[in-house]
Order: sequence, then C-alpha cells, then structure tokens
Amino acid sequence: MTSGKFITLEGIDGAGKSTQLAWIVELLEQAGHAVVVTREPGGTPLGEQLRALLLDKSMTMHAETEALLMFAARREHLDKVILPALQQGRWVVSDRFTDASFAYQSGGRGLDVHKLAALERWTLGNLQPDLTLYFDVPVEVGQLRVDQNRPKDRFENEQAEFFRRVRTAYLDRARQFPERIKIIDSSLALADVKTAVERTMQTLISHG
Ligand code: TYD
Repeated sequence: MTSGKFITLEGIDGAGKSTQLAWIVELLEQAGHAVVVTREPGGTPLGEQLRALLLDKSMTMHAETEALLMFAARREHLDKVILPALQQGRWVVSDRFTDASFAYQSGGRGLDVHKLAALERWTLGNLQPDLTLYFDVPVEVGQLRVDQNRPKDRFENEQAEFFRRVRTAYLDRARQFPERIKIIDSSLALADVKTAVERTMQTLISHG
C-alpha cells in the first residue's frame, strides 16, 4: 500500500514547468506534506549519468537506443527514489516522467507507440502518476522561453517541427487520460498559471 501521492510535470522545452515546480512544492508543504522533488531523465546517480549522455549534443544515437536509455534511467529512479518515498508517505514531484517518452520518442522521433507501451508495462507495471500537469504552450512561445544564455542540449537543438509533433502527442495523451493528465495553459501570465495550478491541485491535496 502506498500512502504518498505521485505528481508529474510535463511540457515541451520552454513551457515553464521548472518555474511552476517551486510553486507546487510550496502548495504541498503548506498543506503539511513531506515532498521529494526529482526529475527525469535522472534522479539517481546512474540516471544522472544517463541524462548527461542523452542531453549531450555531440552524441548520436538510434531513436530506440534513446528510448531504452530513458526507460533504463526510469527503472532505476522507481526503485531507488519514487517507490521508497511513496511507501514512506512522502509526496513525489517529478519534473517529467513516462508521458515525456510518449511525446518525445514517439511523437517527436516517430517510434512505434506499442513498443513504448511495452516498455512502460515492463518497467512500471500498473504504476501511474496520481496527477500529471501538462504545461501547454505554442512551440514559438516555448522556443522564446528556452534560456538563451546557456548552450542548447540535444533536444533543445531540434527544429520547431519536432516540437510541434511533441506538443501534439502530449495533447493526444491528455485527451486519452483526462482523469490523470490536466492541461494548464502556460502561455498565460505567470500569476494566472499559478492560480490554474493551485485550482487543479486542490482536489488531490484536500484528499491526500
Ligand atoms: P528538461 O526536463 O527540459 O530539463 P531542463 O529544464 O534542464 O532543460 O530536459 C530533459 C529533456 O529530455 C527534454 O528535452 C525532454 C527529454 N526527455 C525525453 O525525450 N524523453 C523522456 O522520457 C524524458 C523523461 C525526457
């Protein structure tokens, strides 16, 4: 029996999810929950090394290799961070999770969605986040918001067309799982996005 709740944040690069992450943690802590913040790919020593390889823009890899590395990091993340925290009654907030693989590796790279679904079953069994906040912005807005002062990683280097496919895949998934995935209009002013996040999380927080 797990007693904590599992919340994941998703969006195309530049959607503003990192900014909202701090707000989400604040809301949960105000409600008296112990919170563990983590990210994917990454979250464990092995996962962070895989992340470095996956984001390195001098690295070339087959799209299936990319997917397998994402799920390898995820398997480790579940075992070492997510499941232990949930079992201790903590709330886990992960900056990205499996929906990102469906959006980027299937939508963006064109991998067969059934192969990803098989990897998902293999690594996660029946585990799904309790709530996923999908921060939606048009691709042009996301591209403007990606920090221009630091070098772009292997994904951020992709063309607008790639991110349009990623966004479409996220929106399709949100329509497929409307109970779990909530769409937040992240093109609004920061204060309005925060209000939308708070409203969306209210039910989960009050029942946690
Ligand atoms: P991101 O979460 O955007 O971190 P930062 O805010 O530091 O740039 O970077 C992770 C990248 O990895 C992002 O471009 C999406 C990609 N990604 C996938 O392609 N598939 C996945 O399953 C995950 C978890 C991430």
